[in-house]
Amino acid sequence: MCGIIASLSYSDNVSKDLISALERLEYRGYDSAGVAYLDDNSSLKRIRTVGKVQHLKEVLEKQHIKAHTGIGHTRWATHGKVTESNAHPHTADGVAIVHNGIIENYQELKKQLVNEGYIFESETDTEVIAKLIASHIKTGEQFFEAFQKSISELVGTFAIVAIYEKEPDILLGAKKGSPMAVGLSPDKQSGYIASDAVALSTLANELAYLEEGDIVVVRKGRQLSYEIFESNGQSIRRETVPNKVSLDDVSKKGYDSFMLKEIFEEATVARRTYEKFNYDIDISEFDNISIIACGTSYYAGAVAKYWIEDIAKIHVDVEIASEFRYRNPVFAKNSLYIFISQSGETIDTLCAMRLVKEAGIKTLALVNVDTSSIAREADFVLKTEAGVEIGVASTKAFVAQILSLLMLCYKNIDIKAVELSINAVLNGNYDFTRLANKIKNSRSLFYIGRGVSYPIALEGALKIKELSYISAEGYPAGEIKHGPIAIIDENVYTMALAPYDKYFDKTISNTQEILARNGKILLITTSDAKDLLHGIDKNDNVECVFLPPNSPLYLPFSLTTFIHLLAYYTANAKGHDVDKPRNLAKSVTVE
Ligand code: G6P
Repeated sequence: MCGIIASLSYSDNVSKDLISALERLEYRGYDSAGVAYLDDNSSLKRIRTVGKVQHLKEVLEKQHIKAHTGIGHTRWATHGKVTESNAHPHTADGVAIVHNGIIENYQELKKQLVNEGYIFESETDTEVIAKLIASHIKTGEQFFEAFQKSISELVGTFAIVAIYEKEPDILLGAKKGSPMAVGLSPDKQSGYIASDAVALSTLANELAYLEEGDIVVVRKGRQLSYEIFESNGQSIRRETVPNKVSLDDVSKKGYDSFMLKEIFEEATVARRTYEKFNYDIDISEFDNISIIACGTSYYAGAVAKYWIEDIAKIHVDVEIASEFRYRNPVFAKNSLYIFISQSGETIDTLCAMRLVKEAGIKTLALVNVDTSSIAREADFVLKTEAGVEIGVASTKAFVAQILSLLMLCYKNIDIKAVELSINAVLNGNYDFTRLANKIKNSRSLFYIGRGVSYPIALEGALKIKELSYISAEGYPAGEIKHGPIAIIDENVYTMALAPYDKYFDKTISNTQEILARNGKILLITTSDAKDLLHGIDKNDNVECVFLPPNSPLYLPFSLTTFIHLLAYYTANAKGHDVDKPRNLAKSVTVE
């Protein structure tokens, strides 16, 4: 949530690096973007634009900026509307900063700084940080000491970088709660601080990740170097790891969007996750399993509940991280807690995990980024092999998550059957454009399913909501008559997930109930059920889609790819940006 980048270089071309990093960080937010840099005379300049990074890029390109030191930001608004004055960087007396996170005590600090005579120009919590550093400099502190002191006065979560026009040869960064990485270019001519490895994929091939409370200084000497300090001020070496994100990972490879490319990778991702699965945890040693996550990752947990209870006969709870962490959970004895997160940075999932660790209970993280905060803090880590996922709506990571969870409880997976399920949808003759045009103008949509198709229905509805902005609800097919059926009329489409499994007849009955109220149905079933539809397919209000038959265990994979493509085509039919849906961000590092 919000992407930050800072660059210090012997070349005068930092604006190019800043913009290329911001383009890759855009998945963290795209309400506004901005840079601040020190020009030839070491004087601080700032350029900010509302909207996507492309606008900023166009403005910067016209200016032929020459700068050795600069910072950049792409914003997901928390405090204050999406305006230029609220866009980062924020400045004060030659100091410029960018911030990811939330400063909880900003009102008190603001009051104090207003009393000192500072005039605030934004509604953000962030602006206090720039003014606070400037106020400490005014009392005679050096930039580093002023920064250190200011950081110690902040309450909340943050990744912050700062530059100062009177000390142009250093970058300062601080991390608490939000991720931060530091690295140098291979020729050691440039140094960078950024939110993640993706930002630095073309810039630095080795990175160090800051730990909670760390401060980093990147400085020019005979060579560029960086030094990390713990919160007690002691210099500390943090391990460096290769930056595994390649240019290939961050390119669309000929697809019109990252989302479409990522959906088309789902079969490959399943195969890779299967082949690299390397975890011998024996879940049968536990009496209970609790799965905690947010968004699509939560739905992966909800799918796993059906499998683990059915196959391993272990009780499973699945819970939303933001709810779990603020109630007083009772920890069942001999439980395994699994935290699922694509990014490994979702703050609610991270804090929920810390709560469990504090209770002395072992935690297992299922993450796609092994350098992430959740991976680094968990007792055990299981990595999904989805590769870099850039589309804000998670797709291929969901496939990797459900397959990993299935592998935890079932050892004899037929991976070919999984691949075939996915490929049959990717390469089948389904007319998604026509289907999308049918549903795109519905007043609202339902996705219904029973058994393991129910959490897939939840994921289907989430995808439609986030990309098409149509109000969509996922519901257990059997529950629709207990309220939601009141919404049904000829303007409401229901996508019924009814593959031929033990729930098939029941789900078909539920679709009949909807048809009786003039609702429209998109029936997503399997071809082995063709003769069992009791004429429902002849109803003018029904559109049928037949997926290939499969073992019930693997049906969720073809259903998943289908609902992902349907969401993609529906958003496309509405003319939306599928990679950057409005108001969202991929990595949610604020509560
Ligand atoms: C955001 C993203 C979703 C994602 C959720 C959880 O809301 O837009 O696509 O599922 O965060 O993210 P995580 O990285 O923890 O899986």
